[in-house]
Amino acid sequence: MPLTSPFRLAVLVSGRGSNMNALIQARLRGALDAQVTGVFSDKPGCAALALAREHGIETAALRPRDFASREAYDESLFNLVAAVHPDLIVCAGYLRLISEPAVRRFAGRMINIHPSLLPKYPGLDTHARALAAGEREHGASVHEVTTALDAGPVLAQARVPVLEGDDAQILAQRVLAREHPLLVQCVQKIATGELAFSGERISWHGQPLAAPLALNELDLLEEPR
Ligand code: GRF
Repeated sequence: MPLTSPFRLAVLVSGRGSNMNALIQARLRGALDAQVTGVFSDKPGCAALALAREHGIETAALRPRDFASREAYDESLFNLVAAVHPDLIVCAGYLRLISEPAVRRFAGRMINIHPSLLPKYPGLDTHARALAAGEREHGASVHEVTTALDAGPVLAQARVPVLEGDDAQILAQRVLAREHPLLVQCVQKIATGELAFSGERISWHGQPLAAPLALNELDLLEEPR
């Protein structure tokens, strides 16, 4: 059921932008009632910004080293973000911690996608760490952004098996293939209001969510188009 005015997304990126692109492509094929209206970065030369510009999306990048503090950087960056009037901010491979005033300013409106089954493996090198620990299962999580690294309440997860002979790169590819539908489905359900969050309270169809949604639950509840 398309919404009358498109739900507006601001996406924060630092690198390649495949998750951002998954949102753009989903919108183009009519599978997402939300539109990427601005893409923002700490890395002016990153591939994600170039891709966003190819799609005619407004972009902006600020270099952290040009600012006196993390707070000063975030204030300027998030003023640019606020100017596109986002309903939701999506951190998709944005490799910086966000300071408290910015987190507070956008409370209930900022999510991150992280390549692990949180609370396991916050931070970097998640795939190598999961392999080194002998995990049989790995995956990705979409969670609320808080000031702590990859530690906000988890909305939904996608799981993949760890297979014999996997290396970090192969496992990363298997996870990434699930990240894209996970992010698109989460954003879709947030846009329709079926999935909502604020602080520790996450609700799904109006009921408190006891455990993160699984990607297949999100898929199954997708309305036929
Ligand atoms: C993804 O694995 C995402 O989960 C993590 O960083 C990676 C970004 O990939 N936060 P991309 O830039 O979306 O291709």
